[in-house]
Amino acid sequence: MASDGQEYLHQSLGQLKKPHGCIVTIFGASGDLTKRKLIPALYNLALEKKLPERLAVVGYARSEMSHEAFRDKMREAVQEFSRTGLKDQAVWEQFAATLYYVRGGYDEADGYQSLKEFIDGFDRNSRVPPARVFYLATPPDLYGPVVERLSATGLAPREADGEGRARVIIEKPFGTDLQTARELNRRVHDVLDESQVYRIDHYLGKETVQNIMVFRFANAVFEPIWNRRYVDHVQITAAESVGVETRGGYYEEAGVVRDMFQNHLLQLLCLTAMEPPVGFNPDAVRDEKGKLLKSVRAIAPEEVASSAVRGQYGPGQIGDQKLPGYRQESGVHKTSPTVSYAALKFYVDNWRWEGVPFYLRSGKRMAKRVTEVAIQFKRPPLLLFKSHALDNVNPNVLVMRIQPDEGVSLTFEVKPPGSEMVVSPLSLDFNYEEAFGSGSPEAYETLLEDCIEGDSTLFTRHDWVEAAWALTDPIIQVWNLSKPKSFPNYAAGSWGPAEADELMQRDGRRWRKP
Ligand code: BG6
Repeated sequence: MASDGQEYLHQSLGQLKKPHGCIVTIFGASGDLTKRKLIPALYNLALEKKLPERLAVVGYARSEMSHEAFRDKMREAVQEFSRTGLKDQAVWEQFAATLYYVRGGYDEADGYQSLKEFIDGFDRNSRVPPARVFYLATPPDLYGPVVERLSATGLAPREADGEGRARVIIEKPFGTDLQTARELNRRVHDVLDESQVYRIDHYLGKETVQNIMVFRFANAVFEPIWNRRYVDHVQITAAESVGVETRGGYYEEAGVVRDMFQNHLLQLLCLTAMEPPVGFNPDAVRDEKGKLLKSVRAIAPEEVASSAVRGQYGPGQIGDQKLPGYRQESGVHKTSPTVSYAALKFYVDNWRWEGVPFYLRSGKRMAKRVTEVAIQFKRPPLLLFKSHALDNVNPNVLVMRIQPDEGVSLTFEVKPPGSEMVVSPLSLDFNYEEAFGSGSPEAYETLLEDCIEGDSTLFTRHDWVEAAWALTDPIIQVWNLSKPKSFPNYAAGSWGPAEADELMQRDGRRWRKP
């Protein structure tokens, strides 16, 4: 991203460039994301020597706090939330010395002035100007004001395409519907070049999600069968066993379609179904994802009843643990209509996928935490083995297990030894931990490292966000207009409402129970 190639150490992958210096400013430094994810991720990057030589991490929030107090709080956060704990005291001390705190309001000039003085001071003491990363981990209604203030104070000047030193990471949700997303894109583009904007979707940083592209485009055997001729349908599941935890207030407004489908599930759909990009660079990959999303047929309002199912969990249990229903969670209204489970059927109107349904489902408080993409192939055209009816032969299924138990498996039919000609399913299995051991980087590590290096491949572009809202808006609108009569309609700890099973049964299919 630099105009002057001398500024950077080039890494082995050629495209990646690590700046000598970087200042990461986190807006919303007293919030949950900072302590659970961001600081632990930066600490783990420090541990693996993946951070620039000259580094400052500035926490910015409204409350009064000294640098020392901020360091102490972050030490506890790393101890509690880092995947490696606080593994190396010496690395922690070095890292802690780069942590600073600046107090300020999000929409008041004063705080930004103090931040500017701090950052300018760091700049003056640097041999080459450091990259500036601004992480917006604030409530979403502050994204617009923060970006505008960053521009007005000159902290993040607009920089020409590809030359940006100042980058802004924007957390989800990016808008609450198409109109608000457009409006936010407009406000952001008024002051920044798109190349400076990093809209984060943490799913894209997961190793197993990145592996979807490698699996598809670094292996020749799957491409010829990755289409309507061989694939019967695709199931994408993101089931969570947790409820809304402490986020009842947020979730009441969001619901599962905004919280999981508009971003994570549609990203998984794109990576699974898109055409090969012309190269592995930000625009090539994001062009293909955008093209795919634009060929997903929107569910028309009159089709919502037949192609979409909504649910809300009632009381139930997982194992011995008794669980409250959604309406009993704190911050949730007693008669809330909020949707905590959805199953959607989409078609992709292009040559590769014509007629192949993509079933997407996600819910809170389901039987098990599991995220996977399952490609179900067609059955063999003719059955030779008379002892089995054709519909007893299991179709081949290729499953990309995103989490937990990360891996890939392919099921196929075999003949168990014996005199009878019987057919039985088995699978070829690849498991990440067995192959590579534990200790893969967390999504936020990968994404922060990429942004520091100026690589936006795994971030979301403005047109994608808008196209995703265009697909989810009609469903949310129809559901808002007709309040659910049967909520709660699935028990906590189950696999979702019966209507979701019926959606599949009508098509002669059924959900996997991973
Ligand atoms: C977040 C949602 O984006 O993703 C949460 O806001 C959800 O509600 C989370 O729990 C799931 O992420 P992961 O990485 O645990 O699958």
